[in-house]
Amino acid sequence: MRQKIVAGNWKMNTTLQEGIALAQEVEALIAGVNNGAKVIVCTPFIHLTEVKKVLKKAALGAQNCASEVSGAYTGEVSAAMVKSTGAEYVILGHSERRSYYHEDDAMLAKKTKLALANGLIPIFCIGELLSERESGKHFDVVKSQLEKGLFDLSEEDFKKIVLAYEPVWAIGTGKTASSAQAQEIHKFIRDTVAAKYGQAVADLIPILYGGSCKPSNAKELFENPDVDGGLIGGAALVASDFNGIITAF
Ligand code: 13P
Repeated sequence: MRQKIVAGNWKMNTTLQEGIALAQEVEALIAGVNNGAKVIVCTPFIHLTEVKKVLKKAALGAQNCASEVSGAYTGEVSAAMVKSTGAEYVILGHSERRSYYHEDDAMLAKKTKLALANGLIPIFCIGELLSERESGKHFDVVKSQLEKGLFDLSEEDFKKIVLAYEPVWAIGTGKTASSAQAQEIHKFIRDTVAAKYGQAVADLIPILYGGSCKPSNAKELFENPDVDGGLIGGAALVASDFNGIITAF
């Protein structure tokens, strides 16, 4: 059985105090939930250490890490630094990083290797733009993102990866991929992994869906055989909504 996961990506939201309060609220709500879903909160860097102190059940993640090991890179935060806060996960390749900060596949491959070398589990995001879906290129786009970002990894390392399919047109737009669209492309992603690393590895890798996921649509999305959970933006900032998604399994 693959691990079911619901990860919250807080993006650039909450002050430190608001973040601690949100984490406390999430913990209070998930205390009684025992459906086997792993809960992860991915906070801004400066929240990591303090949020770690209030987490009991949920695991901690960052939203990025540097592509270099250490040194004169003003403003950057290394994988080793993230790990030293007690974080276990790091989101890499989010479409907002790819588009606003010009992170390309080669840079993401470097970040992924550094994250793994420092004992962090990458939540690696892939997904197409609206124009790419409309022109029928979405399969090629996610395949290329997988190949260039991840397929240089050894099997041993690849097995540690969590994938997140996030169609850019569904992020923060209120527009969700239909359940059938999600299953179709998640199956394609798993088949692409199987062709590279074998079916046993592909069967092991959690593939999360992200993009306007909320309590009202989570169940339908998560019921698909190849959708193993969600990477949640806006709804992760409201503890009751986040919990509503976690309990959708
Ligand atoms: P929304 O849930 O706000 O659409 O964001 C999804 C996302 O980008 C998670 O990483």
